[in-house]
Amino acid sequence: MKLVISFSARENGNCDQIANHITSTNDKIIYLRNMNIHSCMNCNYECFEGECVYREDAIYRIYNEMCNYDKVIFLVPMYCGNPSSLYFIFHERCQDYFMHNDNYDEIIKRLYIIGIYGNKKDAPDFIPCFEKWFYGSPYSNRVLGIERHLYHQKIADSLLEVEEVKRQIDNWIINVEKE
Ligand SMILES: Cc1cc2nc3c(=O)[nH]c(=O)nc-3n(C[C@H](O)[C@H](O)[C@H](O)COP(=O)(O)O)c2cc1C
Repeated sequence: MKLVISFSARENGNCDQIANHITSTNDKIIYLRNMNIHSCMNCNYECFEGECVYREDAIYRIYNEMCNYDKVIFLVPMYCGNPSSLYFIFHERCQDYFMHNDNYDEIIKRLYIIGIYGNKKDAPDFIPCFEKWFYGSPYSNRVLGIERHLYHQKIADSLLEVEEVKRQIDNWIINVEKE
């Protein structure tokens, strides 16, 4: 069973379409934009000693939920040269989660990431940004970059209409499911 999380702000864009494409009946998709979430703000770093002041929003629950699935796949678009803010909000809140849960390996052994962006030449740090999750771990090749410019796709075009992209994603998912 897979848990797929879309970090896109837009409904039915490339992240959502790919999420639908790679999931089947028993899998689950979370659209983070629809959840009750908070970024790290208006607090006194309570997470370092006690609990995050936003412990009851959706994020802590999603981190816990990740451990109930065989594979967890993040779908993250590039906004203004970086991963979307929804991704950073989710990521920074792991400070609270991992301060209280000794299960970093349980999370990352399930974790795979697809980054959707223009091209590697203009943004060489986009994909390595996601690879930070796996530094010092035995896991490699967990991040797939989909470069829109290679297929002359514009911002709002549908990447899955490009056969080569569909094939690339399908082959990647076969390997994810095999691991
Ligand atoms: C606010 C915003 C900023 C963006 N900035 C970039 C960018 O800097 N480079 C790029 O290649 N694409 C950029 N894009 C395009 C998105 O990466 C692209 O539309 C992607 O498909 C978005 O994911 P979605 O289709 O799931 O919404 C931007 C899109 C938005 C909405």
